Amino acid sequence: MIPYGKHLVDEDDIDAVVDVLRNQFLTQGAVVPQFENALCGYTGANYCVAVNSATSGLHVACLAAGVAAGDSVWTVPNSFVASANCALYCGASIDFVDIDPLTRNIDINALDNKLQHAAKQNCLPKALIVVHFSGLSCDMQRIHKITQMYSIVLIEDAAHGLGGSYQQSKIGSCVYSDMAVLSFHPVKSITSAEGGAVLTNQNHFHEKLTLFAKHGVTKDPLQYRGESHGPWYYQQLELGYNYRLSDLHAALGLSQLKKLDVFIQKRSELAKVYDETLADLPLKLPVVEPHFKSAWHLYMVELTQHDRQNIYQLLHKKGIGVNVHYIPIHLQPFYQKVGFKQGDFPVSEHFYQHALTLPLFPSLSHEEQLKVVDVLHEVLL
Ligand SMILES: Cc1ncc(COP(=O)(O)O)c(C=O)c1O
Repeated sequence: MIPYGKHLVDEDDIDAVVDVLRNQFLTQGAVVPQFENALCGYTGANYCVAVNSATSGLHVACLAAGVAAGDSVWTVPNSFVASANCALYCGASIDFVDIDPLTRNIDINALDNKLQHAAKQNCLPKALIVVHFSGLSCDMQRIHKITQMYSIVLIEDAAHGLGGSYQQSKIGSCVYSDMAVLSFHPVKSITSAEGGAVLTNQNHFHEKLTLFAKHGVTKDPLQYRGESHGPWYYQQLELGYNYRLSDLHAALGLSQLKKLDVFIQKRSELAKVYDETLADLPLKLPVVEPHFKSAWHLYMVELTQHDRQNIYQLLHKKGIGVNVHYIPIHLQPFYQKVGFKQGDFPVSEHFYQHALTLPLFPSLSHEEQLKVVDVLHEVLL
């Protein structure tokens, strides 16, 4: 079976992890700060806090944004549940804005309308979490302009986005946002096994992110309330969590980061082959507009004539491990209990009904990709 996604770990990566195992520190050593600095260097963001998953990153980003009980957070239904759960972890409520059928990212006109309405009702969200679906950046300049008008904290769920760019900047640069959250889960652009990071350009967010990800505890005397008791001293200032990334994971991430551009180049080449070889099929292919460079986390097609269930099964029978992203969050039983229902976000629901994720990962061989293309022709023509 050719899977839809797969990590690529080589001997350099293995050596980097083994080096840490031979060292004094398995966690909280020098490698995590090295990884954080390298992520700042790559994306152009000023600050980075490495965490043990993007899910943790989204949680601390919401906490740093001040999201709490009584607040509301908005995101899109076309994402993994973590993009919404983080608001609920903080005691806030969640609401959704539907997606644009072309980009499959947040529909900015719908966002604008919903915000105008919310402003009139005095129920504006505290934070907006936009998702760079499949590695394609949202139109951040436009979104930033709108959220600034209402003083809404803008968080990028960039779990799919590392390696992509928007205008002149890398995804994660936070040029048009307050914080951006990365994931290093194995199917993502690079992996640290589990892992994530939050990037920001603002010192006050960086301080809060660091606190919330590390038990709410600081060893920085400048932050103490009152006097230090001595060199051993620390203070807990917030109710934080243990969301730290270990040095072992950071070593893998740091080693992988060196290969990120090669990985993205390979993903882009594979995407181009799909663009060219699938153009004659009854499929809606992904569109990347000028000024955007996708990280190509996923290559998603929409079936325009066939039944998705049937095609999914046929492809699997023939060894093509296609997948489906995403079951709209508001259709999950948990979110139905909260009050959302079928029909609330029709574009995300339509996309879900017709979408297929084709195999795309740096080690996908030319022969394997041709097999995917041939089998698609066989079942769709
Ligand atoms: C858009 C999005 N956000 C957040 C996450 C959560 O990432 P992690 O597994 O690193 O917690 C995922 C995971 O697939 C995702 O796709």
